[in-house]
Amino acid sequence: MRAITQDAYGVLEEVLRLNDIDKPSVGDGEVLVRVRAAAVSGSDWHILRGLPYAARPVVGVRRPRNRVPGLKLAGTVEAVGRGVSRTKIGDEVFGWCSGAFCEYAAVPEGQVTAKPANLTAEQAAAVPIAGFTALQAVRDAGRVAAGQKVLVLGASGCVGVYAVQIAKHYGAEVTGVCSAAKADLVTGLGADHVLDYAAGPLTASGFDVVIDLYGNPSLRTLKRLLKPGGTVVLAGGTGGRWLMGMDRWVRGLVAAPFLGIKARPLVHKDRLDDLVLLRELIEAGEVVPALDRTYPLAEAAAAIEDVRRGRVRGHAVVTP
Ligand SMILES: NC(=O)c1ccc[n+]([C@@H]2O[C@H](COP(=O)([O-])OP(=O)(O)OC[C@H]3O[C@@H](n4cnc5c(N)ncnc54)[C@H](OP(=O)(O)O)[C@@H]3O)[C@@H](O)[C@H]2O)c1
Repeated sequence: MRAITQDAYGVLEEVLRLNDIDKPSVGDGEVLVRVRAAAVSGSDWHILRGLPYAARPVVGVRRPRNRVPGLKLAGTVEAVGRGVSRTKIGDEVFGWCSGAFCEYAAVPEGQVTAKPANLTAEQAAAVPIAGFTALQAVRDAGRVAAGQKVLVLGASGCVGVYAVQIAKHYGAEVTGVCSAAKADLVTGLGADHVLDYAAGPLTASGFDVVIDLYGNPSLRTLKRLLKPGGTVVLAGGTGGRWLMGMDRWVRGLVAAPFLGIKARPLVHKDRLDDLVLLRELIEAGEVVPALDRTYPLAEAAAAIEDVRRGRVRGHAVVTP
């Protein structure tokens, strides 16, 4: 089958190859998915570069442990392994995996579920992981409640487009921060107010919850945005090849009580029950993926680069 492969860390155009590799066999408890679409996000670029270094023991010390990149997919079940009970051949599914930039992926049954009936495969592939992160940031870390004022820093990104809609679902008044060029996207997702990060320092204040998907503002800046006792969800990270901002999370945890705010770092968890909840929100029309562009498999590197450079409005997907 055709697949994008990576045998070293480095510059994407140099390390990503379109290759012919063996079609995976389906193991016990797995389903074989014919991949219709695989979503790209900013995190893909970091993983392909082997960043942050602190993650190398997990992703592979000298080279990627998973030769085929891509973590989010939608497609059709072509075969099922022994012990598979919920899923049958022909089902249209979406979920997460290790190796989505290819024609077939063998995926544990517990990582896929029925695709939302009202989405294309391309839209559905853009839901896992970004959707989990947004849901867990808003519901679990932010504990957003009806009537609260919520600020989403990075509202036009892969995670932010879901965070805005999910915070609206929980009844919040939502302000999104993004570039002026994507303000209409964020307004279209239901944000009550949109602020341009390039228009000068943010002077808004009085937020109950700030969801920081950008990962750059100092804790003092975040405190100025918040009500006394308000909560910042630290989910994004920029800068520093070793930790990529995770050191800031630790500093935030230590300093927040002295600043009179709460800091809640978020490391999202891939969870099937959250994927099912996202499907319900999507089928109820409360959440809509923001799919911008599709790329052929051979252009996976260009897709990742476009997302990293902010040239995509919401999501990009690769279609094997
Ligand atoms: N904690 C977790 O478990 C977890 C999981 C997934 C991702 N993440 C992290 O979450 C962050 C967001 O991920 P993503 O995939 O959504 O990234 P993304 O698609 O690259 O989006 C980045 C967002 O940041 C905005 N932005 C750029 N410069 C900004 C500035 N100066 N001030 C405020 N916002 C600015 C961008 O706006 P424009 O595009 O309009 O310029 C865009 O909305 C990343 O740091 C990622 O590593 C964390």
